[in-house]
Amino acid sequence: MTLKADQIEAYWLPFTANRDFKKKPRVISGANGHYYTTSDGRRLYDAFSGLWTSGVGHCHPKIVAAVQNQVAEMDYCMGFQATNDKACQLAGELCEIAPGDFDHCFFTNSGSESVDTALKIALGYHRAIGDGHRTRLIGRERGYHGVNFGGISVGGMAPNRKVFSANLIPGVDHLPHTHNLEHNAFSKGQPGWGAHLADELERIAALHDGGNIAAVIVEPVAGSTGILPPPVGYLERLREICDRHGILLIFDEVITAFGRVGAAFGAERFGVMPDIITTAKGLTNGVIPMGAVLVRDKIYNAYMHGPEHMIELFHGYTYSGHPVAAAAGIAALQIYKDEGTFEQARALESHFAEVLHSLADHPLVIDVRNFGLMGGVELASRANAPGARGMETYKTCFWDENLVIRNGMDILQFAPFLNSTPDDITKTFETIRRVLDGIA
Ligand SMILES: Cc1ncc(COP(=O)(O)O)c(C=O)c1O
Repeated sequence: MTLKADQIEAYWLPFTANRDFKKKPRVISGANGHYYTTSDGRRLYDAFSGLWTSGVGHCHPKIVAAVQNQVAEMDYCMGFQATNDKACQLAGELCEIAPGDFDHCFFTNSGSESVDTALKIALGYHRAIGDGHRTRLIGRERGYHGVNFGGISVGGMAPNRKVFSANLIPGVDHLPHTHNLEHNAFSKGQPGWGAHLADELERIAALHDGGNIAAVIVEPVAGSTGILPPPVGYLERLREICDRHGILLIFDEVITAFGRVGAAFGAERFGVMPDIITTAKGLTNGVIPMGAVLVRDKIYNAYMHGPEHMIELFHGYTYSGHPVAAAAGIAALQIYKDEGTFEQARALESHFAEVLHSLADHPLVIDVRNFGLMGGVELASRANAPGARGMETYKTCFWDENLVIRNGMDILQFAPFLNSTPDDITKTFETIRRVLDGIA
């Protein structure tokens, strides 16, 4: 399909340098397996699995069939005071693969909505148990929790917040981020230094009184900021401090759930149980927008009081538990089970780490970071042009090498398919080295 210039001009793209993009648009019109097809007929290898979304590849035939069947059987069903069979099935199956007593889930349509839902659930929980004075929320510098007002308030990505700084939700503090090149550069997996940074939560608790804090939210592995795995012992320490003060711990697992870290959830992989888990992305393998917030029994049960005809949580979306999204989710979970996707991802980790870290000797590279199948390669920034080198690398990959990666400023990010072969990964990084050799 040939697009007209005014059609491209009409579209205000998200998280995109629009003027630069529109000079030479990158438009994709097909996807299958590990490849995209561009509107001008080129085949691109996708080294980012969609946007961390599509772990088992694009257009997986079983998900395509499930969606086609569902849309013909029931396109939509109102989700308030009634629901559909697929939403219930998916909720049950999700709770089955969730750790411990995560026995209930609330559906949303995106990661951002999952985060704001989780924050609201946490605040409401404390009120329900008579602790309504617990209103403060704690995020972390460099955290990414989506783009809604709750998410950017607890989030710590400066460009996402600065325009809205006067309008962020009140009563939020931030833990320090765990990035430190002096101590942790080129760490493989979890860095050894930095667990003490969790103790900052004690300082914040002392400042405000821990009894006023409702929840702490962190990504188990920070993704969008450029891959920051938790220092050894850090998540455990956060959990301990939360327990000491009765603070809920929320893991934002929008990226880390569904195999990205070689397990169903980061919570399982790290052996640290949060109280609430947010998900999206891999829930449907990226096929239909959907998110889910999983909660432990004590949280759901706290809401189940008062007159039974009354709504317990005044929150929800028109498309919560959408039957077509739920059908895609059910098919995705089945594939993860049948194809052993999480185990496959786990088995690929060491090869991915080795190949990723082979870039450490490149003169442009100042750090390499990884956990599971999440990889970051930080380039030295050009003087007076932060982000330019990363963007040029991204564009060269796209136009000259038929390879899709992602850059966050000067940090190249990689999210190989969970069902990649070792050879796919090796080839990706041979290309990256060749591209970097040509970047000034
Ligand atoms: C950890 C985390 N939380 C929330 C979000 C927001 O998800 P969405 O873009 O689906 O709203 C993202 C997206 O990348 C994410 O990585």
